[in-house]
Amino acid sequence: MKRTVILGVTGSIAAYRSADVARALMRAGFEVRTCLTRAAQEFVTPALFEGLTGQPCLTHAFDEPVRGRMAHIDWARDAAALLVCPATANAIAKFANGEGDDMLTTIALASDATLVICPAMNPHMYADETVQRNLKALRARGAVIIEPEEGDVACGENGQGKLASVERIVSITESVAKTSALYEGLHVVITSGPTYEPIDDVRFLGNRSSGKMGLALASAAVRMSARVSLVTGPTHGVPHPRVETTRVTTAQEMLDATAALCGEADLLIAAAAVADFRPQAKAAGKIRREGPVTLTLEPTPDIVATVTERYPKLAAVGFAAEPGNDLESARRKLEEKRLIAIFLNDVSRPDIGFESDQNEGVLLLKTGQSVAFPKASKYEIAWRILDTVRPLIPPQ
Ligand SMILES: Cc1cc2nc3c(=O)[nH]c(=O)nc-3n(C[C@H](O)[C@H](O)[C@H](O)COP(=O)(O)O)c2cc1C
Repeated sequence: MKRTVILGVTGSIAAYRSADVARALMRAGFEVRTCLTRAAQEFVTPALFEGLTGQPCLTHAFDEPVRGRMAHIDWARDAAALLVCPATANAIAKFANGEGDDMLTTIALASDATLVICPAMNPHMYADETVQRNLKALRARGAVIIEPEEGDVACGENGQGKLASVERIVSITESVAKTSALYEGLHVVITSGPTYEPIDDVRFLGNRSSGKMGLALASAAVRMSARVSLVTGPTHGVPHPRVETTRVTTAQEMLDATAALCGEADLLIAAAAVADFRPQAKAAGKIRREGPVTLTLEPTPDIVATVTERYPKLAAVGFAAEPGNDLESARRKLEEKRLIAIFLNDVSRPDIGFESDQNEGVLLLKTGQSVAFPKASKYEIAWRILDTVRPLIPPQ
């Protein structure tokens, strides 16, 4: 496993905090190699990072610490992650546009390591439409954005723009930099997001699922070397570029797409928050507001139960989103739906579950064991779920 993180520091007033990030990454077992932009050197020096990391610090596109070897290529090849901390609005724009006019942007172009960006800037700059558009474009290409916090920023204003905490940056970088061959040769199908069940041509029944857990599972499975197919309901999330994505709207469409993929799959992870009910009949046009309306609802198909019945040898992991932790009901679902495991999480808590970047829960295994997962990022939880269920997947 590669354990080198390239730390790119750009010209933000928060540059001084990157020294703490470098130290914390080293404590977490990474070799840290630093690259400073010209503007970063107005705030911090190469000597600081060379002293802290014991590695040369690059500052210029033509730096060559090993004579005759192009540093931007060597460093790009060795990196498990390229962490840009802090990232200025200018650097974000350059990454988004594929510019390579200094050492840092050239390394970013040459490397296939995940780009982890920690924006830090004045709240007006952060809210600027172009900055947000550039971040969106980078996310779509697989970059991980560690969003800045709200609070007082150096210029005396208050709002979102303050560099994220060192702990958060290090924890996310650690999980991004991890790769493994645990799922080499396996095909994993993941369902994700909500489903929308039409009431008429305009309205639908849906739920608050953001699809973040499914996206985290898909990214983690890719980094564990799986071939990953994602079947997702309507969300704004952007899947990892190596994920094969099918977008659907209703529970029936999700079932059809999932069943079509599962014939040759090794593992199904059903993380979608599928609507349990749908209107029995969809009204044509738009129902007029002329008095009370009664909707008759019918149950939607149970996707995971239908698929495991059709493919009895398929290993499947379910998710039970219960308000309050009902272990009994989750254990019953595990057996009735022939799952190898079920992840039980409490969606009534605002700090975890729907829309949150974090989760917490209990994984019940078909072996009778249960594993508690303390609160962590959805990516970290995803990694642990995949790690825990791997021995339960029968060889095909
Ligand atoms: C004192 C000072 C503080 C700055 N802080 C920030 C900042 O926090 N975030 C930011 O995006 N730009 C900040 N800038 C502007 C950048 O330094 C400037 O856009 C520079 O061109 C960035 O170059 P780089 O992205 O190559 O490092 C600051 C400028 C000055 C003079």
